[in-house]
Amino acid sequence: MDNSVKTIAPANEAGIRAAARILREGGLVAFPTETVYGLGADACNGKAVAAIFAAKGRPHFNPLIVHVENLAVAENHGRFSTGARRLAEVFWPGALTLVVPRRPESDLSLLVSAGLDSVALRAPSHAIARALLAETGRPIAAPSANPSGGVSPTTADHVAEGLADRIDFLLDGGPVPLGLESTVVGFAGEQPVLLRPGAIAREDIEAVVGPLAKPDDTIRSPGQLASHYAPNAALRLNAHRKRDGELLLGFGAVADATLNLSPRGDLGEAAANLFAMLRLLDKQGSAIAVSPIPEKGLGEAINDRLQRAAAPRTPQRDTP
Ligand code: TXA
Ligand code: MG
Repeated sequence: MDNSVKTIAPANEAGIRAAARILREGGLVAFPTETVYGLGADACNGKAVAAIFAAKGRPHFNPLIVHVENLAVAENHGRFSTGARRLAEVFWPGALTLVVPRRPESDLSLLVSAGLDSVALRAPSHAIARALLAETGRPIAAPSANPSGGVSPTTADHVAEGLADRIDFLLDGGPVPLGLESTVVGFAGEQPVLLRPGAIAREDIEAVVGPLAKPDDTIRSPGQLASHYAPNAALRLNAHRKRDGELLLGFGAVADATLNLSPRGDLGEAAANLFAMLRLLDKQGSAIAVSPIPEKGLGEAINDRLQRAAAPRTPQRDTP
């Protein structure tokens, strides 16, 4: 573990109390959620929220997710349409982020919305994240706890490797269970729009609110950059075998895989392994080939992350 993080604490009662105090005083705390580790700050404290952008090197046009305890708190900050409320009722607490119109009377820092008139809200299910929210008594703004554009952290070690002395406190809650960021759903009027595929599969959301539309000029996610989640190594996708000099990240029954996301072809297991295995291979070589992943269920989000990880690295926005 990198010792340059000011404080790393086990996520027991004392650790959570200390972390909550630092948040209330305007500090930055990294903590586990069920999806990935988040880099948290008091969402009502503009200076603290600005420090998140600085620590990550995050572009200022990219808004943050605000974590709350439950729907009742969320409704103080955003206006929930019938569809948005249905989704929150079914999937919260859990790995779904809802982008809804921001209430003018909300005391959230304007920076969390990055100039938009909407706000992204999520009630996480991870016991440590929930305990931290309860103990802090404030909404917590938290993007993934990695330098902007890099691979998301699924262990406390990953957080320390990437952000080290740029954070005040790191709550170590072990590896996260899901390993992929939350699914982000916004609304164009009443029409639900899939802004980012994630740890809850499209099919499960569509079973509740009907077909999800694609982002368009009405609503899109400013953080969906073509290059993201990028390791240092070059990535070659849909590879059926490895070429000279390549490491192979396999999926399913693949004979010569260097590492295998899921030898039994389970997409949940592959999602949980994806970021940690990309980091391991990145340390071993400079070219990574990846087996094809079926584009169904969690495969949609896994392929989304892989395509961005393989994209040319110049920072650029997705074109519509
Ligand atoms: O699982 C997760 O969602 C993790 C954990 C820590 O909760 N957080 C996370 O945050 O992945 P971040 O900042 O890495 O990704 C947030 C995504 C970005 O694509 C951002 O552009 C989008 O949500 N987003 C946030 N606020 C938005 C808004 N008002 N309108 C549209 N998109 C928004
Ligand atoms: Mg991120």
